[in-house]
Amino acid sequence: MTLDSASETLLGRGLSFCSLLDPPGSKSLRFLDAFDYATEVVHMRHALNRGYTKPYSIASRLWQRWKGDRFEESCKTVHAVMEDVVSEYLRSHYRKPFEKEDADGHKEGADESGSETQKHVLIDAMAESTLDPTELRYEVLNVLIAGRDTTGALLSNVFFMLARHPDVWDRVRAEVEETFEGRLPDFESLHNLKQIRYLLNESLRLFPPLPLNMRVANSNTTLPRGGGPEGKDPVFIKEGQQVNYHVYALHRSKETFGPDAEDYRPDRWENPELRPGWGYIPFNGGARVCLGQQLALTQATYVVARMMQEFTSITRRDKKEEWQEKITLNTKSLHGTKVALMKGDKKA
Ligand code: HEM
Repeated sequence: MTLDSASETLLGRGLSFCSLLDPPGSKSLRFLDAFDYATEVVHMRHALNRGYTKPYSIASRLWQRWKGDRFEESCKTVHAVMEDVVSEYLRSHYRKPFEKEDADGHKEGADESGSETQKHVLIDAMAESTLDPTELRYEVLNVLIAGRDTTGALLSNVFFMLARHPDVWDRVRAEVEETFEGRLPDFESLHNLKQIRYLLNESLRLFPPLPLNMRVANSNTTLPRGGGPEGKDPVFIKEGQQVNYHVYALHRSKETFGPDAEDYRPDRWENPELRPGWGYIPFNGGARVCLGQQLALTQATYVVARMMQEFTSITRRDKKEEWQEKITLNTKSLHGTKVALMKGDKKA
């Protein structure tokens, strides 16, 4: 679902994927398979190569053996599909100036009333900077990586935990019922659903889809805290030095979230005194804050609300007790999310 929605934001409806409806073996599902495998291996390559740049190091030989041919094939598939999408986009882009109204005066991209239906999509903004097909392909892929797995991981983690905490499901569902009384959610009311906000906050806190991050200093600088005997003094960072920060650990700090920081408790966010500031950064912060934050939160809120309107309860369908991580370019649940959703007393 998040592949389809992220690609629609990026490319518009005409060019986006339709993997939820496409049959097995279709181009979108082959793309998904290849994309998943390639991002997993890219992460592994990065982890193995860190600090081992000599071509014949043990890590590099292990890497060569481990990745096999499937990696190359997956990358080729991902790039070939993207190349098609970008070529198709460029063809229509170059056609646009020559498009005229048809014989009935109907302009392409306009509905029956004549108003424009064509949405502004991200690739249009990208195409204002470059029309180079390779550059565009990398730009598109970059945003697809940023937007698809992250939101997918958030949603699957939310349902993983809901299946283990029926009391939370009931509380959140009661708010959805009360707010919409069976109507489809509208954009404004979605943002007033406090219980879903707490639910998403808590999932992003305990299972941040991007649990590790890093920066490299452009020039000599200092970090405000972390130095001195008590860790409260500034720390000197030399130009070129890499600073890694561990969002997963930060989000479990007892100093910020209290003694029960490791526990899953969405209602902790009800406490007005909980103001974690830079202690809670699932979307990062500052100049490079996530561009898709509002989109991701709105989409996740909508999906949770709709699921709760359709189903009365949720139960787990796996034997694993604990959430375990699967680390690829981002982090998701190792065992997936196996749940059953019920309507009334019956299993759906
Ligand atoms: C739950 C969902 C998401 C999470 C947790 C998330 C998290 C993040 C984080 C932590 C960063 C900063 C990376 C860094 O600078 O090191 C980032 C950047 C970015 N995200 Fe997201 N993201 C999510 C969804 C999305 C969506 C849906 C889109 C767009 C469709 C998106 C587009 C981007 C882009 C373009 C950047 C790069 C911004 C820049 O470098 O200036 N993200 N995201």
